[in-house]
Order: sequence, then structure tokens, then C-alpha cells
Amino acid sequence: MNNSELKKLFNSMTLSEKVGQMGQVTPDFFSNEGEITGPVAEMKLNSGELYSIGSILGTHKPEQVIDIQKKYLENNRLGIPLMFMADVIHGYETIFPIPLALASTFDTNLVKKVAQLSSKEAVGNGIHVTFSPMADLVRDPRWGRVLESNGEDPHLSSKLTQAYVEGYQGKSLLHKNTLASCVKHFLGYGSSEAGRDYNTVSVSDLELYQNHLPAFKAAIEAQVKLVMTSFNTVKGIPSSANKWLLGNVLRKELGFDGIIISDWGAIQELINHRIAEDSKEATRLAVEAGVDIDMMTSSYIKHLGDFIEDGEINIETINQAVWRILTLKNELGLFEDPYRGLMKLENLDQNLDNIRKELEPITRSVASDSLVLLKNEGILPIKTKSTKVGLIGPKAQTKDLLGAWSWIGDKSEVISIYEGLQEQFERLTLSTIDDTDSISKQDLVIVALGENSDESGEAASRSSIQLQQEQVELLKKVYEINQNVVVLLINGRPIDLTNIVNYCKAILECWFPGTSGGAAIADVLCGRVNPSAKLPMSFPASVGQIPIYYNYLSTGRPKNESNKDEKYISKYLDIANDPLYPFGFGLSFSNFECGKVEFSSGSLSKDAPIKITVTIKNLSNISGKTVVQLYIEDKIAEVARPVRELKGFTKVSVEPLGCEEVVFEITDKDLMYIHSNLKESADKGSFNVYIGFDSLAPKVGEFVLV
Ligand code: BGC
Repeated sequence: MNNSELKKLFNSMTLSEKVGQMGQVTPDFFSNEGEITGPVAEMKLNSGELYSIGSILGTHKPEQVIDIQKKYLENNRLGIPLMFMADVIHGYETIFPIPLALASTFDTNLVKKVAQLSSKEAVGNGIHVTFSPMADLVRDPRWGRVLESNGEDPHLSSKLTQAYVEGYQGKSLLHKNTLASCVKHFLGYGSSEAGRDYNTVSVSDLELYQNHLPAFKAAIEAQVKLVMTSFNTVKGIPSSANKWLLGNVLRKELGFDGIIISDWGAIQELINHRIAEDSKEATRLAVEAGVDIDMMTSSYIKHLGDFIEDGEINIETINQAVWRILTLKNELGLFEDPYRGLMKLENLDQNLDNIRKELEPITRSVASDSLVLLKNEGILPIKTKSTKVGLIGPKAQTKDLLGAWSWIGDKSEVISIYEGLQEQFERLTLSTIDDTDSISKQDLVIVALGENSDESGEAASRSSIQLQQEQVELLKKVYEINQNVVVLLINGRPIDLTNIVNYCKAILECWFPGTSGGAAIADVLCGRVNPSAKLPMSFPASVGQIPIYYNYLSTGRPKNESNKDEKYISKYLDIANDPLYPFGFGLSFSNFECGKVEFSSGSLSKDAPIKITVTIKNLSNISGKTVVQLYIEDKIAEVARPVRELKGFTKVSVEPLGCEEVVFEITDKDLMYIHSNLKESADKGSFNVYIGFDSLAPKVGEFVLV
């Protein structure tokens, strides 16, 4: 539809039709024929209201989408099609590793590819919009939703967020297999106090601008179509009612002109936050703050019309919201084809089968690229097929490898660790702890430990981030019998591994690896795949260190080698300040070294960036990939600055005994930071540069910004 046709349609809408577009419900609202019962009755929607609703969230099958759309269009006066949204977070039915695992790849191309493939399957199921990516900055592994994040670093998260948006949306939403992307949760949700989900957030403006905003900014620059508000308060006001946050920051400063959607039920929750007395007041606050779509409450539908008729809210506010919604429907091509190609397919199931067949092998290679080798005392890889391998532990045979937000994922399709290992090892024994004799006779024993999928994700916060005591006991018993132990970890958050790290020779962090998880794990164990992933979050040495992150601010009393025994410095009495495993860390079967580093100049200016070239050597006989990381330290600034910040990363493949050059370009933009007036700029002065394979990389030089 061209713009003037869309305008004409818009101008012919009644007030209640416009208000309807701003509501969103689940598909079960359309499943009651005849008598109105169930959710429709609970929300007290009449059929006029139901058939004016703008969008649906969470359908399961293409047939369901077709049915609802058909029924809806038969009843909607102007024939404005519904938009179908869903949480396609790490795949739809075929499940890729969780986002935190994908972040471990430090590979933007791979993440983009995963987003493209997830779109393809979701589109085949009738979905138009995904509630992904989650760009929340996270520093507290007690919060279960770290699983959905890109980790603790704003630079890494920005690059990955951009990759997701580009992957989902492609070049145009009119192209086949594209989804509109909704970045979430705006803003600060990752800083829920004490890691408890939905809890208060209290961060400074400087912190919000410096660390929480960049990934959202990256999404907006990549033309993301929707932004979801967060459940938490920002400066005391819940995001869904926060005029400053949505109006000033999101619309004016970041220039976002797409749709703002509330999180599930968040408008109604303004009552629990005790800033609204009832849902009418909640409606007024949310719409005045700028929320365009009310997800899963009837607040807008029930009250917006009255506000307009009483002249309390300007119709222009609603007009703008509805125009944005119609514009997205038009960009998706829904006015021309409300089924977005589904009706033209001869066989919907066959189409989905073909997609699944295409995706499954890719889930295996993506998963193996996301496994982080945390420890290896020469025990991995297991080179010969005939090695006697024992397998034990609660995760040995489980199909629970998909993790949270895989609501359509089919568990029965999952390759368990046992099944994966069977493919690679001829002499594999599934052991139990009573079988002391068998455990002692194995060349090595793999102990598979970790979380269940409902132990991380939304509403899955934990005060302890250690493994369950029974799992620790099991490991210790195995280790007493046979010290050649390899630990596999299945989990959605950084775990405190201090009580297990000394009872094994190797640890492989497998996260929730998805549909082909077991096969991918076996690929790494047997050396078919050389691990290359790196931690996107620090692994604490104790829950008492949380929040913990590598890019902490300089303090007035920093701890260092020379003062570490003094009393009045920033430290703990009982433990070190350092995490057990730092951000960016992950081992390989190869042995990499940073060789010569060359700076194209000792100074850079606005018009003249510098290039830093580093030679990466592979000193081993095994070809491998690694992530070369560049960190910068701003020596003197107007506000306290991080001790170092990631400013560049490159995944590089190096042949056995070979070397590769990696070039980083640093521009003045990379040196910008938020000043006390909340404006971003770079200050002249000198900067230290660190390059290596994790966030403890050594200093390689310095330069000056002139
Ligand atoms: C979550 C969102 C999600 C939405 C819809 C909420 O509970 O916070 O991230 O997109 O539900 O399922």
C-alpha cells in the first residue's frame, strides 16, 4: 500500500478501531466459538473489541495463524490484518544455544546467521515480529535472565545486538523469511537489585547512558522496529510510565520512531508499583509516557476511548501510535498478503520439515562454537575412539538441553550427551556411583552436571550460584576413585565453581546448547572441533563478589601487587577481588601467542584514526580459532573511568605453526565517553592499549589523542 492509501485507511478508522490496534492478546482469545468464556470473558472484551485488536502474541502453528487471521478479517470492518508476535529468542522450534552461549562465540556473523535461520522457521510458522534481542547489560549472575543476554560488556553487546537485528530484519521486511525485531527491555532491567527478578533498579544517569544505552542505540541504528519497556523503575518511575525515559531518551535523544510496546501486563503493574490507583490511571500514565501497544491487559481498550472523548488526552497521541502500528503492518506487506506467503505454500508441514532439516546440522556447529573450555590439564581432546570413557551425572542422559525460552522446541528431538558421545566413542560406559569398579577402570570419566532449564531464565533468580550439593558430592566421589575427570556443565548463568575446580582435570562450559547439544559436546571432547569460545560474563569466585565485571571503575584505593597486604584498600578480608575466570577467557587445544604489535602512529585525531596490527601465532600442531581482544584504558578523564574497556575483537583462524595478522582500527569515536553533563565526547590525552586473549591481556603500547 502506498502512503496515501494508508493515510486514507487511517482516516476512515473510528476511535474504537484505533484504540483496538493498541491492544495485544494471546491466541486463546480466538479459540472460543460462540459463547464468550475464558480469557476473553476475564478481560471482559466484547466481540467488537476483540475484532479490532491490533496484534497477537504466541501462536504455535501456521494453521493457527491462518485460522485466526481469516476469522479476524471476516469480522474486522476495514480488513486491517493482525500482526503476529512471539518470543523467538534462540530459535523457534529448532533450538540454537541460549543467547549467553551465542555471545560466547564473540562472532557477529554467526549470530546474524542464527537470527536469519530462526526467522526462516518462525516465518514458516506465521510469525511476523520477534521479541528479541534482549540487550540488557548484566553483571549479576544471580539474575536468571542473564541467560537471554549478551553478557557484561557494552561493546560486545552492542555488536551482537546489531547482528541480531540485521539477521532478523534483513534488508527489507518485504523480503522472504524476515521478521521485525523488538529490542528489549528498555531500560536497566539487568540491574535488578540483588539479582532478584522484577526488583527495583537504582543506577545513576551516568551509568545508564554509559553502559545500558549503547546496545539499544546500536539496535536503533540498525533500524529495529520495536522497543519493549522493562518491568523495573528507572529513577523511581516504572519504565512503562516514564516520560523522561521514553520521551526524552528514547524518542528525542536516540531518535527512535518505531513502536514502543509494554512488557507483559506491565501497564496493569503500575498499580502494584503504587503509582496508579486503578487501570484507568495506569492507562493514562502509560499512554502519556509514550507506550504504543499494551501487551496482555485490557487497560488501553477499556479506557483510552473515554480519555479522548473527555478531552483529557489529545487524539494526536493515539493517532501517532496507530500510525506507527499500521506502518509496520504495511512494511511487512500484510495489506497485500495478510498470510505473508503461507497460503501460497502447497504443504505447510512439508515446508517446515524442510526448514528443520536445513537448520539441524547448523545447530550442531553453532553449539560446538559456543562451548567454553575453562580448564584442561592435558586430558582433552580424547584422541582415540577406543579410549575407555565413563559417563556419569544428572545431565548424562537428559534431553533438557534447550534452556529457557524454547517454548516450541521439541525436547524429543534433542541429542543428549550420552547419544552424542556414543557417536564418537566405541567404549563408552554409562556409570553409576555404586559401580566403583567400573569407574576405576575407565581411562577417563566424564561427569555431566548443571542446572535444569527452569533454574535460569525469567523468574529464576538464585541466591546461591553453586552447583547443588549432591552434584558436588557426586563429583568428589568419582574423583576419589578416578582422577581423570572431565566436568561438563549445563547451565544458563555463570556458576561459582570454586568448590569443584580442584576435583577434575578439565571443565567444559556447555551452557544450554540446544537441539544438537550432545553431538556438539562430543565434537569438542573428541577434538573434531577445537574450542574457541570465550566467557561473555565473569565467573565469580564467590557470590559475595557480585556484581562483578572486568570493566570496573578506578577507585581511590585500588588494590595492586605492592599494596595487597595493607588494610585500607579496596579488597575483601576473606577472598581475592578477582573472579575465578575473567571476562573474555576460554582455552583452546591450540597454543596461541600474540607476536609483534605495530601502531601506525603514536597519535590519533578526529580525522586520522590509527591502526594497530598484531601478529597471532599458533605454536601448536592443531589448527584453531581464537578471539583476539583489544582493550583501552583512558588514563585521565573528567569522570572516573573503567580500568579498561573492550574496544575491538576479532575471531581469527590460524593454521598449525602458522601466523595471522589482525588489524584493529581505533577512531576518536572509540574514545568517547559520557561526561558528567551526560554528553558524549572524547578528551585529548593518552590511552593505554592491551591486546590478548582475555580481559587480563597485557599492555602492548599507548597512544595520544590530539
Ligand atoms: C518477558 C518478555 C517477553 C514477554 C512476552 C515477558 O514476561 O519479560 O521478555 O518478551 O513476556 O512473552
